[in-house]
Amino acid sequence: MIQKFVGRIGRVGKHVGRVGKRMGSHIGRLIDDEKAPMNRENAHDIVIELQNVWKTYVMGEVKVHALRGLNLQVRKGEFLAVMGPSGSGKSTFMNMVGCLDIPSKGKIFLDGRDISLMKESDLAQIRGKKIGFIFQKFNLLTTMTARENVMLPLTFQGIPKVKREEISKKYLELVQLGDRMNHTPNELSGGQQQRVAIARALANSPEVILADEPTGNLDSQSGQSVLEFLKKLHKEKGTTIIMVTHDEKIAKHADRIAYLKDGMIVAHLDVDTIKLKEAQDAAMEKEDKSRRDPKIMEKRISVHKIITAM
Ligand SMILES: Nc1ncnc2c1ncn2[C@@H]1O[C@H](COP(=O)(O)OP(=O)(O)O)[C@@H](O)[C@H]1O
Ligand SMILES: [Mg+2]
Repeated sequence: MIQKFVGRIGRVGKHVGRVGKRMGSHIGRLIDDEKAPMNRENAHDIVIELQNVWKTYVMGEVKVHALRGLNLQVRKGEFLAVMGPSGSGKSTFMNMVGCLDIPSKGKIFLDGRDISLMKESDLAQIRGKKIGFIFQKFNLLTTMTARENVMLPLTFQGIPKVKREEISKKYLELVQLGDRMNHTPNELSGGQQQRVAIARALANSPEVILADEPTGNLDSQSGQSVLEFLKKLHKEKGTTIIMVTHDEKIAKHADRIAYLKDGMIVAHLDVDTIKLKEAQDAAMEKEDKSRRDPKIMEKRISVHKIITAM
């Protein structure tokens, strides 16, 4: 359905662009009305902004343009899903936003600070304090217990051991793994391992959670529970979440879907609009079916006859 929708949007790209701009400024106005003077743009509400971001990997003679002039704004507290075919640049984009890599060209602002020109030590600082990562392959250290895995990023923040133990217990309990704290990853199921990774991502109370296909290696039930934790976090703590997914059912739990193709964002879809459109399509299909149904047609004709005879 989303694919179809994106196709349709592609054809009327310009129009959507205009609508998008109008919607964007409308949202901006609403926020401004509530929180800030009218003459200020909603810049204070943007936590991530990418301006004309390019990433080119050079491999000998070959250049791969993984990102090609990507522009994006993410609002504070927004839940954004990123979709797109394999190789379209989703992970590259996440790595840029997560300060794991720097762009070849363009600017990336995190909380108003340009991170595209920062040196590694500053990037590491930001990464540790502001960002929590969740990867498709969990990326847990296999020799450490769940608790030690969650404690690890806190070590880099210089937090004392007692406090680290307390925090890791709190988050492992939050993801319902209080009884598995001393297990190593290979003693846990895929879903449990991903929940340890979520607890680890949450341990620093990050402002932004970046989840790159967090449900990609999980069965649908474990995937659903991971998704529920992310939604809870988004709702209750107002954490900004960017989640890459292949699964449109999962993407539809976000507020907005950005669709990437060939290193560019080709469409932004507002999830409420998609749901409304789907409901309308379903209603129209039902109506069409009932029109085509001879029994219903017969009833309609006879009702019509009665009315006209009256
Ligand atoms: N470290 C790298 N070196 C060279 N090419 C890379 C590297 N990482 C990604 N690429 C290339 O960049 C493009 C985008 O990759 P990626 O961001 O992983 O896409 P996605 O996550 O959407 O599947 C692909 O063509 C991929 O082969
Ligand atoms: Mg990827």
